[in-house]
Amino acid sequence: MLFSQISQSLRSEPGKWLITGVAGFIGSNLLEALLRLDQTVIGLDNFATGHRENLDDVRGCVSEEQWNNFHFLEADILDSDACIQAVEGVDYVLHQAALGSVPRSIDNPRATNAANIDGFLNVLTAAKDAGVKRFVYAASSSTYGDHPALPKVEETIGNPLSPYAVTKYVNELYADVFAKVYGLQSIGLRYFNVFGPRQDPKGAYAAVIPLWIGRLLESKSCYINGTGETSRDFCFIQNTVQANILAATTCNPDAINQVYNIAFGGRTSLNELYSHIKELLGKACPEILLQDVNYREFRQGDVMHSQADISKAKNLLGYEPTHGPLEGLKETCDWFILHKRDTFNVSRVPTPQD
Ligand SMILES: NC(=O)c1ccc[n+]([C@@H]2O[C@H](COP(=O)([O-])OP(=O)(O)OC[C@H]3O[C@@H](n4cnc5c(N)ncnc54)[C@H](O)[C@@H]3O)[C@@H](O)[C@H]2O)c1
Repeated sequence: MLFSQISQSLRSEPGKWLITGVAGFIGSNLLEALLRLDQTVIGLDNFATGHRENLDDVRGCVSEEQWNNFHFLEADILDSDACIQAVEGVDYVLHQAALGSVPRSIDNPRATNAANIDGFLNVLTAAKDAGVKRFVYAASSSTYGDHPALPKVEETIGNPLSPYAVTKYVNELYADVFAKVYGLQSIGLRYFNVFGPRQDPKGAYAAVIPLWIGRLLESKSCYINGTGETSRDFCFIQNTVQANILAATTCNPDAINQVYNIAFGGRTSLNELYSHIKELLGKACPEILLQDVNYREFRQGDVMHSQADISKAKNLLGYEPTHGPLEGLKETCDWFILHKRDTFNVSRVPTPQD
């Protein structure tokens, strides 16, 4: 079934969803999409890396009636009672809560392990005990580890290169075992470098796109780790949102208890990425065009190239990415200029309409 048809059928038959990590980047975008479809949403977050501001921003994007369909639970997924409370009466779980970032996991593997494995098991067990219809979870392209093949195909993975990658692979193993032992229906989405509005530009572990946008808007220079020929399959958030809703609602029996690459299916080098961002921001703030980039050491735990084969998600889930990296970057840069003027103290930056 096409995504537009699924959206229509959800509107006529609203369901109850749990989004863990709802105050984060991906979680808050899922929240916005589901509220716009008149769904009831329970959101859980402990604000470890997410922000109340993201929830306030969603509130500004939906009607008062839609916002009243949202119920927030401030809690940690390490608290198993909170997980039990959160899944009560829920049809679909979209589990996003985790500590992201490869470098963070290298600095503190125990914290990453606790949130990403113990926490995951708490949510998974609660979902199984509550008898939810479907458990969809954020897996990761880091699971491909040191396997050199490109593009990445779901069945062929290598050895993990970081504690973070270990935790995301363990999630897949647990989901698979829960399907076999308890009959829990699950789908894992291996995200590849998701980006878009509300992604955190601040902090030591910020992802490259919001980090560079933020630094350029603050007139600070950017760093590239390595030669800049490192490449990634950058995936705009709207494609990721589509994949989650398709995974939760698919009626195709062959599609269930599987993992899928969720990406655009292309490859952009960091040098290309930097030029695109500079050009897009430069339209609003011409002095950004003069900023030079600095190169430094390649980062431990990173892979040189990454690109997804997305045919499995296309064939079994009906996934069709609507935004390429450039369209996504334009929407993202416009959003940051409009919404983050205060954060970056960029009153000198005109809005796109000026
Ligand atoms: N952004 C990407 O490119 C990408 C790529 C691969 C996988 N992922 C996965 O997608 C998911 C969402 O990532 P994101 O980019 O939105 O990150 P994010 O940091 O913006 O969101 C994660 C959210 O989980 C919450 N959280 C963390 N630990 C928690 C805990 N113990 N209890 C309750 N809430 C907790 C955080 O406060 C935050 O709001 C994560 O599982 C991440 O590993 C993301």
